[in-house]
Amino acid sequence: MATAGTIEPFGYDVAVVEPDTGMRQCLGTELTGAAQFATIEELLQVSESGRPVVTVFGPGFATSLGFQHVHRVTGAHPEFGAVFAVHELSTDVLQQALRAGARDAVVIGGEASLRQSVDRVGELLAGSVTRATAPTKPLGEPGRLIVVFSPKGGVGKTCVAINVAAAMAKRSPAPVVLVDADLQFGDVSVMLGLPPQNTVLDAAAAVQYGDSELVETLPGRHTASGLLVLPAPLEPVPVEAMLPGEMVTICGALQNVAGHVVVDLPSVFNDYVLALIEAADDVLLVGSMDIPSIKNLKIGMTSLDLQAIAGPKLKLVLNHANAKVKLDVKEIERVLGLTAEFAVPEDLAVPMSVNAGVPVVIDDPKAPVSRALDRIAESLLGPLSAAKLGKRRR
Ligand SMILES: Nc1ncnc2c1ncn2[C@@H]1O[C@H](COP(=O)(O)OP(=O)(O)OP(=O)(O)O)[C@@H](O)[C@H]1O
Ligand SMILES: [Mg+2]
Repeated sequence: MATAGTIEPFGYDVAVVEPDTGMRQCLGTELTGAAQFATIEELLQVSESGRPVVTVFGPGFATSLGFQHVHRVTGAHPEFGAVFAVHELSTDVLQQALRAGARDAVVIGGEASLRQSVDRVGELLAGSVTRATAPTKPLGEPGRLIVVFSPKGGVGKTCVAINVAAAMAKRSPAPVVLVDADLQFGDVSVMLGLPPQNTVLDAAAAVQYGDSELVETLPGRHTASGLLVLPAPLEPVPVEAMLPGEMVTICGALQNVAGHVVVDLPSVFNDYVLALIEAADDVLLVGSMDIPSIKNLKIGMTSLDLQAIAGPKLKLVLNHANAKVKLDVKEIERVLGLTAEFAVPEDLAVPMSVNAGVPVVIDDPKAPVSRALDRIAESLLGPLSAAKLGKRRR
């Protein structure tokens, strides 16, 4: 490229295209060394044929005409890696950006850094995928999929999912991704105190666009635990918003970059829940020590024929296991026809950690409840030990 902006060592150029001069300069300042253009035509005049260019399109292109314009360019020039820098990132804007061929969309001044996005897209374009240097697992071996389920609400699924995932992230050299698949009442992001970010709906839009590499970049990092989190949408959406195969595809894309993907499922039997249970390597079935919970577990297991779908993958987790109730674990095991593999005690440390937005295994690692949750993580990590995963550390 004739203009400033060549980043030689990485083998790609960076360009900002935005009609508004002030905004263009502002984006140019953030991306030191980027070439600046008011129109796409100006960029096309100076770009060398075939050389990768990460092209940041400013808010002036986040209109239906702008998206169409970008679409034409990305279609004709696969060497252009488009990134949209927008004021607000709604699902609609992300969807349109993806349809226009964008590799990423970032909110100006938001949590996600434009620089990081540009670097990531640049490395992808230049053929040296970021994943090669990021903490990862051996190529060709998909991460394990663990789903956390219960036919009864309020038994502690989300607490188990968050803490087992966080305990795994403490021990595993490979990334651990937590997915909130409860489209209506998902509260993983609330429990972890995460700011609004990309959600499973954005991942579904990327899947619809056929861009599973984009899915891999969508989870945000929860600093205290090191977990990568793909939360549910803030506003509830009907379960039909997700096709059964889409959730499995999203998780499959994440399994490409993670050692483990942990999914918090809703307490409903719908197609995508069943598809995920079927696709999972491990199914944590959470029950609490009370008659309604055990009754619902039994009914759920029978009507779903959960044993047939999940078979040996099923692992019963009894939450509130120390509750002073007249229920005997042996009796529960007999009724359910399942061994209670894990028992998690009731502990005040759990609601306290929820209020702090930090998993209890991090907030209060010595609490009995944390030790119990750690044991679940250790058992699930099992064969994917540090040795098998190689020496790379996060
Ligand atoms: N072992 C525990 N000790 C003390 N409190 C707990 C424990 N497990 C869960 N809780 C509390 O129980 C409540 C419900 O837990 P959680 O949200 O994890 O359940 P859930 O099954 O995900 O519910 P939903 O069906 O609404 O998604 C939370 O307020 C949580 O703090
Ligand atoms: Mg929940």
